[in-house]
This record gives sequence, C-alpha cells and structure tokens, in this order.
Amino acid sequence: MKPIYFLSIMVCLAASCTVQTPQDRLTVNDEKINELIASMSLDEKVQMLHSKTNMSSAGNERLGIADMNYADGPFGIREEGVPNGFTPAGWTTDSATFFPTGSALAATWSEELAYKYGSGMGKEARLRGKDIILGPAINIQRLPVCGRSYEYLSEDPFLAARLAVGYTKGSQDMGTAVCIKHFALNNQETNRGTVNVICDERTMREIYFKPFEAAVKEAGAMAVMPAYNKINGDYCSENEYLLNEVLRGEWGFKGMTVSDWGGTHSTMGAALHGLDVQMTGDHYLGPALIDSVKAGKVPEEVVDAKVREILRVRFAIEPVPADVANQATASQPESRQTAYEVASKAVVLLKNQNKILPISKDVKKIAVIGRNAVATVASGGMGAGVKAPYEITPLQGIKNKAPEGVEITYAQAYKNYAGMFARWFGLADSPDNAAEINESPDPAMLAEAVEKAKDADLVIFVCGTNKNIETEGSDRQTIDLPVGQNEIVKALSEVNPKIVSIIISGGPCDVQELDKYSQAIVQGWWNGLEGGNALADILFGNIAPSGKLPFTFPIKLEDSPAYAMGNFPQKVEVLGDMFGNQYRKDIQGQRMMRNIKVDAYYTEGPLVGYRWFDTKNLPVKYAFGYGLSYVDFKYSDIKASASKKAIKVSFNLTNTGDMDADEVAQLYVSRIDATVSWPAKELKAFKRVSLAAGQTQKVELSIPVSELQYWDEQTKDWTLEKGQIKLLLGSASDDIRLESTVEIK
Ligand code: BGC
Repeated sequence: MKPIYFLSIMVCLAASCTVQTPQDRLTVNDEKINELIASMSLDEKVQMLHSKTNMSSAGNERLGIADMNYADGPFGIREEGVPNGFTPAGWTTDSATFFPTGSALAATWSEELAYKYGSGMGKEARLRGKDIILGPAINIQRLPVCGRSYEYLSEDPFLAARLAVGYTKGSQDMGTAVCIKHFALNNQETNRGTVNVICDERTMREIYFKPFEAAVKEAGAMAVMPAYNKINGDYCSENEYLLNEVLRGEWGFKGMTVSDWGGTHSTMGAALHGLDVQMTGDHYLGPALIDSVKAGKVPEEVVDAKVREILRVRFAIEPVPADVANQATASQPESRQTAYEVASKAVVLLKNQNKILPISKDVKKIAVIGRNAVATVASGGMGAGVKAPYEITPLQGIKNKAPEGVEITYAQAYKNYAGMFARWFGLADSPDNAAEINESPDPAMLAEAVEKAKDADLVIFVCGTNKNIETEGSDRQTIDLPVGQNEIVKALSEVNPKIVSIIISGGPCDVQELDKYSQAIVQGWWNGLEGGNALADILFGNIAPSGKLPFTFPIKLEDSPAYAMGNFPQKVEVLGDMFGNQYRKDIQGQRMMRNIKVDAYYTEGPLVGYRWFDTKNLPVKYAFGYGLSYVDFKYSDIKASASKKAIKVSFNLTNTGDMDADEVAQLYVSRIDATVSWPAKELKAFKRVSLAAGQTQKVELSIPVSELQYWDEQTKDWTLEKGQIKLLLGSASDDIRLESTVEIK
C-alpha cells in the first residue's frame, strides 16, 4: 500500500491551502482526492460505501487507500471481535484502558479532563490499529431510565457540548478520528430502531443538537453516526434535514457519516439524503446502489461526494501499518493515570450527615456490604465494553487504601440480576442470580450481612444497578434500587446506624429509602479501571470529593418531564407484515425486526432535566450540578459586565476548609421580563478550580453573547433577545451564592 496522503498534504501546503475552521482541515487534499475519484470505477467507489467486516469499511488496494478500521468506544477501545460479528476474537493483545463511563466523565465538569480522556482513547486506538473511535456518545439524558445514560454525558446541552469538544479534540490530536453518536435524538433504547421522534425545531436546536454542533464546528469532529431512530418521519440515516441541511449545510461538516450498526434503511433514502457508509452489510449501499446509478436514479456525483468525504477522513488519519498495530497491549500507564484522575474527580458526595466522611481514624473495622463492591463493569450487558487489563473494584480499592490496622470484612448481601442475559446464556438457574429485579433478599445472605454490619465500626453499603440493568437495547422500567437493596440497608441500619452508601450506577436511582438509613450517600458511577482506588481515596479523606451531578436525581421517576407529560413510555402500534423485515441481512436482533409504529412526542420541549424542575418549581432529590465536598467554599465579590460579544463575570472563590479541594463554580442565566419563553435558568459557563486549604482565587467566566440566542421558529434562524439577564453564580443549580444583572443591548 502506498502512503499517498503524505504527498497530498505536502502538495496542499505548497499550494498554501487555507484552513479557517476546524472542518477545513479535512478539505486540504480535495484536489488530489478528486483526481483519485476520477480514476475509480463505479464498483470501486461503491465498494467503499459499506462494511467490509463488522468493524471496517474498504479502501482501495489498487490505489493504495487503506481500509477504515473502526473501534467501538466510547469509554475504552473495545476488544477485537471476529470479522463478521461481535463475538470476541480471543486475542491476547487487545486489552485497553477502561475509562470511567460517560456520566462519570461528565461529573468531573472538566473540559481539560475530557481532552485527556479523549487523547488516551486516541492513543490506544492507534496502538490497536484503529482509525475511527465510535464515540463519544453525546445524546442528552432525557429519561432517567435510559439504558445508555451511562454512556451519555449530561441532561444539559452546554455541559455535554464542552465535554464533547474536549474528548473530540483530545482524540483527534492523537491522530484518531472520532465518530460522534448517535445523531440525533436517540434518547431512549425502547424501540430505538423504529421510534419516530416528534420534536419542535427550537428544542432540537437548543437542546438535542448542541453537543453535536459544538463537536463538529468547534472541535472538527471528522465522522458522525446517524442514530437508529426517526426524526419527524424520516430515519436519521436518510434524513435530509438532519444530515444535509443542518449538519453539512449549516454546520459546514466536511467529514463522513457512518450509519449505526443495522441502521441503514434504504438505497435511495440513504444515497440521496446524506449517508456515506452503511454499517453493516451491503444491502443498500452496495450492489443495489450500483443498479440505481446505472438506472439513472442516483447521479454518480452523489456517489463521488460520499467517496470524497470518506477520503477526506482517510487522508487526515494516517493508517497504522498491519505490522505495527497490536504488537503490545494498548492500555498505557499514562491512560490509566488519566482514568484515575477522572474517577477521583467524578465521585459525587450526595449526603454527609454528622460528617461521617471522611472515615475517622477511630474506625478500626469496616464491613463492606453488597455485591457491587466486587462486581466488575468494564464489560457486560449489551454493547459498549472494554477488555480491561485489570479493574479495581470498590472492595479492592478500600482494601488497598485502608490505613494499617483497619480490618475489612465483606458480605455479598444481594444476588446478581442478570436479566435477559441469564436466559440467553443459560444462567437463569445459577444460585447467584435473582429471578426478578425486585426480588427480596435471600435470608441467609441477609443474615450474613447483618452479622458483619453488627460487628463493625462502620458499614459501607455498595448498592446500585449493574450492566444488565442499565444496558444498550433496553431502558429500565423503574429507577428503584434492585434486588432488595432497600430492605438490606434498612436491616443493616437496625444493627449499625453508621452507614455510608455507595451507589454504583450510570444513571440516577430512587434513593428515598436509602436516604432514610444512610448517614452518607456517594454516587460512585462505573468509574473505570482505577475506580475502586479513587473511591477509597475519597472515603479515607486522601482527597476531597469534587464531582457534581451531570443530571438531576428526581424524587421519584414519575416527576421527571417526559413521564409527567405522558410522553414516555409510548404506546406502540404493531403493524402487519412482520415477515417483510425478517430477510433483511443488515438487521440484528428481534427488537429491530418488529414492524411497529411508535411515536415519541417531546412535548416537554426544552424543559429537560433541571430546566423542567426549576421552571415548574418542583422539588428534586438531588439537583443538577450538586455535589458536596469535605470543605466549604465562599463565593464573594462578583463583578459582571456585558459587551456586544460576551458577558464577563469575575468573583473570588475561597476554600475555607483545612484540606486542598476542587470546586466547580457554575454560572446560570435567567431572563428578566422576556417576551420569548425560556426555562427558569440555564447553565452557560462553569469552571473547576483547585484551591489549597484556605486559598482564595479570583475566577473569571465568560459567556459568548451568541450562546444566549434562541432558535426562532418563524424566521428559522438564531435570534438574540435583548434585555436584562440575571446571572446566577453558585455551587449547584439549586445552590446559588451570588447574583448580578447585565443588560444585553
Ligand atoms: C450501537 C453503537 C455502536 C455500534 C457498533 C450499535 O448497536 O448503537 O453505539 O457503536 O453498535 O458496536
């Protein structure tokens, strides 16, 4: 294979091509690319528009164009599968760093850490010979039950956008393209292959598109994965509005689109309305496309444009020679350090009654209770996962970090919930598996846990969900703690009131019962291969907790907007002709074969997450942006000014405690006397600040005025509403410490 791209870059440099936007770096080789396309046959071109294997699409050997190798993300480079499926190939060199999953990354509220995370992913992808990471996954967490909340970042578009930008830049700076997914409005797993999302344009633009727009325009994301679902009637992979008008037309996207696996739906639709690569199969963008071109139904220029977009990415991303890739395990010490750093800043302290945390030096015996203390989460469930070289579980971390002389005991207390996987893999009868998700605790297991709790100075109850409960392909039915965990914590508290509960989950849980019996509650996430060490460092007070919730914990599920509006779960209409679909080669899984009609109305509009609760004045359990520390922070001396371009805010932040700690200062805006309807408040800037004990620092935040615009449905454009804006600065969306007002003229 000839590395022609180097030559082309040099040609371009010599011709002094101008790169004005991050997307422009993709077009620097267009002249050369056009020459190549002109030399290709139709068959050769179409060969590039569909999968070659389950995780690659073809280049062109004759012309020295390497295949494109995809790596499933988003929180670690997925283990190698067999060429035509997801079954593990059984390699020994394909382990990679397990980074904290999406919602944990988001809890750091740090674009800098997202950059490091993305660069770790990018570097390890290169070592594995991969060109494009299928990630980051940046859909808005609309539903507390969403099976993929753990992969996604936030309920807030601004926070999700900043992190998506960090991740994208980090990965692409290391020479690996990202494929941001799932574009767009893929906010539920229930019927994800068929659901038709009905959403107004303002909401799409202001909430659901934002992270994608930022990753494309600001960070130059090179690939985009259209989602499985439909939007306003058309599948995302053949949605003219989404892919051609908005993505390419308005945002200036110059890279390639790759359908979600099995998410291509027709030849004409995909060909004419914006899809470049069908993954997987060649049913639509293969021989049928060649026929359509020959029949004059699809102009050959349309095929050329697709090949051009693929080649732009191919030329921007250097292929890894086969004899260089996979020579050693991909997981790098530096990435593991990043995984630790992210994990340690992601843990959220939700409650700390009687300052029970950090664990006092007087505690000499700790009972760690709960199966999640020993469960590994790098892989499992359906979809994203990574073969981690090791994984420090909560129990292991606690053992590693416990001061000398502290005894640690452990009891499992509850069974595993294996869900449909138990049935698929014949594990249903295993004595370790609960038959039902809400099964009561096994009496013997409970008795053992109570005994250990009684005998300890402190109980650490590790509860939460697992990878079978929160998983791709399905949503939870409730956010209740599963397998009798509420009964267990109650029983533990009856023999020992000193209970610290750690929730291991990707999305929010209903903690009303847990709260009654726990003196402290910690959101521990699926926190990567160093997660246990990071958690234990916080529990023992080696570092102060500093994570902040990227989504709201509602008091109960039914309070959350899509439920309150009756928008979820939806009514499903089963249509006739179930058989038509069964012979489609590109479709995997029964769920997608169902021929059904289901509409998901988004009538809550932009009132997603805290926007809903704040606007409707409804109480929540833990608010968006909330998270305690072991110290207090003082906010003072706010100064604010507004120019035509930006609002500038400065203030002093003091760590009034006696240990070093980070605070995430959050700036929300609220419109005064607006004529347009707005949520009560919206996040528009934030900063993670590290402060030594007693230190004060001046902090500056800036909000570009363009960020304050709304999408005007009438003019179909972004519009600025002038007038007074209240600035709300604080430690959480419900903990505003300082206010100021500026005028937007
Ligand atoms: C998921 C994608 C993933 C792809 C390949 C799909 O089922 O929705 O996120 O990248 O599979 O594994």
